[in-house]
Amino acid sequence: MRYLVVPSQETETWKEYLVSKGWMERTLSIEIEGSGRAIPLSNLFPNKAPIDLSKFDIIEKNAPIISPNDYLGFLKIKVGEKTYNEFENFWPQSFDQIGELIIIKLEKEVEIFAKEIAQSLLSQNKKATRIFQDLGVHGNFRIRKLNLIGGSEKLGGETKVRENGVEFFVDPTKGYYSPRLATERLETLECAVLLKEKLKRKLKICDAYAGFGPALMPLIKKNGLVDSIFANDLNPEVTTILQKNLIDNNKENINLRITCEDARKLISLNENIGFFDLLLVNLPHSTIEHLPTLIGLLNHSETSVLRAWSIIDSKRLDEVKTQIELLFTSENFSISKIIVEAARTYSPTQVYVKIEVWTN
Ligand SMILES: C[S@@+](CC[C@H](N)C(=O)[O-])C[C@H]1O[C@@H](n2cnc3c(N)ncnc32)[C@H](O)[C@@H]1O
Repeated sequence: MRYLVVPSQETETWKEYLVSKGWMERTLSIEIEGSGRAIPLSNLFPNKAPIDLSKFDIIEKNAPIISPNDYLGFLKIKVGEKTYNEFENFWPQSFDQIGELIIIKLEKEVEIFAKEIAQSLLSQNKKATRIFQDLGVHGNFRIRKLNLIGGSEKLGGETKVRENGVEFFVDPTKGYYSPRLATERLETLECAVLLKEKLKRKLKICDAYAGFGPALMPLIKKNGLVDSIFANDLNPEVTTILQKNLIDNNKENINLRITCEDARKLISLNENIGFFDLLLVNLPHSTIEHLPTLIGLLNHSETSVLRAWSIIDSKRLDEVKTQIELLFTSENFSISKIIVEAARTYSPTQVYVKIEVWTN
C-alpha cells in the first residue's frame, strides 16, 4: 500500500485535498510516520505524484487490516445490497470537507438517494453537521450553488475552519473558500517575512479580493509583521464575515480597513496609490486582465511585492511572464525577481499559476 507522508500539522489540509480528488484510501487510517503522518493512497492516485505533492515522500507500507467502515459501507446497509450493487458505479467516492460541512457532487442516477447518502456521511463523520449537494458554480461571484441534503437548515452555511493554526469563519453558500490553497497562503507568509526583513519595518498589506480573509489570517497572527491591512471584496455577504474574522484575530491591534468595492477602483483613491508593500490578487479567472488597474497600489520608492494567482492556458506561461514584466516596466517599476510557475493543473489544458514579483 502506498502512503503519502506529510508534516503532521498539515495532515488535515492534505487529507481533505486527497479525499476531494478520490486519492485517499478511505477504508484505512492515517498512520504516524516519524515526525509526520502517512496518508493511505487509493489506487486512483497517479503513478507519478502531481506537482503540488512532489515535495512529499511516498512510501510503501503494509496496511493494517481494518474493517471497511467508511460511509459507503454504511450506505450499503442503508439502501440494501441489491440497490447498492445496482448503482455501484454512481455512488460518490469523494467529497470536500470544510469545517463542519461536507460538500458532495451527486450523479443524477443517485440523486434520489441524496438523503441516504447524507445520513451515511453524517454517521461516519463525527465532525460534520451539514451535508450539501454541489450544484456547480454560478453568477458573477462564481459562488457554488449548494443544496442542503442533510443536517439542520437552521445552521445555515457558516462554519469555523482551522488553517495554518488560525481559526476563522467561512460560508461556502455565500462566497469562495478552498482549503487546498492553505500551502499557498503559508508561502505568502514566508514571502512577507522576507519582505519585512528587507524593509526592516512592519508591512502595509492589501488583499484586493480577500474573500473571507484566509490569506490574511496567518499574516495578522505573526508577531510584529504587519503595520496595516486593507482587505477588500466586492461581495457584501463575504465582507461581513471577513470583517468578523479580521477583528477576531487581530491580537496585535493592527490597523484594519475593510471595504466592499470593485478592486479595479481602489486606485482612484489617492491614499491608496503607491501605499502597499505587499499586494495579493486572487481572482484566478481575471487576475491578468485586472492587474494593470492594481499594480499602481504598490510602493514605488522601496521594494514591494505582488503575489497573485491565475488560471491560464498551460502553453501561455512564458507569454504571461513577459506580459507581467512589460506591465511593471511600463509603470516604472524595476523587477528584481519574478516567478510565474504552474502550482497545479486546473484542467487538461489549463494550469493554476502562482505569480510573485519583487520590485527594486
Ligand atoms: C477566488 S476568490 C479568492 C478569495 C480569497 N482571497 C481566497 O484566497 O480564498 C475571489 C474573491 O474576489 C471577489 N471578487 C470578485 N470580483 C471582484 C472585484 N471586481 N473586486 C473585488 N472583489 C471581487 C469574490 O467575491 C471572491 O470573494
